[in-house]
Amino acid sequence: MTKEWDAETYARNFNFVPEYGQALIDILAPQAGEKILDLGCGPGALTAELAAKGCVVTGVDADANMIALAQKTYPNITFLRRDGHSLNLGVQFDAVFSNAALHWMKLDDVFPQVAKALRKGGRFVAEMGGFGNIGTIENAIYTALDKLGFNRADFPLPWHFPTTAEAAQKLEQAGMEVRYTHLYDRPTLLSDETGGVRGWVKMFGRAFVEKIPSLQQDKFLQLIETEVRPHLFKDGKWYADYRRFHFVGVKK
Ligand code: BEZ
Repeated sequence: MTKEWDAETYARNFNFVPEYGQALIDILAPQAGEKILDLGCGPGALTAELAAKGCVVTGVDADANMIALAQKTYPNITFLRRDGHSLNLGVQFDAVFSNAALHWMKLDDVFPQVAKALRKGGRFVAEMGGFGNIGTIENAIYTALDKLGFNRADFPLPWHFPTTAEAAQKLEQAGMEVRYTHLYDRPTLLSDETGGVRGWVKMFGRAFVEKIPSLQQDKFLQLIETEVRPHLFKDGKWYADYRRFHFVGVKK
């Protein structure tokens, strides 16, 4: 079982996550007074933006550290520790919003939960990693594991990036009409604070790092860095090969 998130470091150094989430807020087009659920809210920066627009927001996240930090930072907003696979909130929302979280969840289980949490006609507006997201980093992780003599089967992927067709089919299956999809490449600058590609793997790939004996972890990160450098290091800066998937579903 992967450890909880280092929420403070995430909020301080990986703030490109909520910064890029602005585009998703535009797609949501929230109206004052709307009841909105932020699914996988992390430290709550975007939940707070929705609240500032006059929405009645609830932020949920499965991670205790993320929820504790969100509650501490934004004491006037409701944040609950809830797993997206079993939301059981007992309330219906005008919209469910989710930024950069769904790729950690099982869509087959989460989409029906979202449908249950929406009123009829309510919208589900989300961004997640799309098919092929961080393909260069993913390949380098497995190449490094090979080089260190580990068995790939012992290191299953902790994320899933669906194709457009797969996500659309699952939305329909859960009782939502697919109104909009957009898959696009978005190379993402990893600022010095993130620690470049090593820092990225330490934060987001900790399911891999934690399984490697501590004496070999530095070598693992170094092998990844060497493998991706020709592709992801440009003009002295590191980029992650993000590929984003936006979608809007409406509850039937
Ligand atoms: C993302 O696309 O936001 C992402 C994917 C995998 C790990 C971390 C972040």
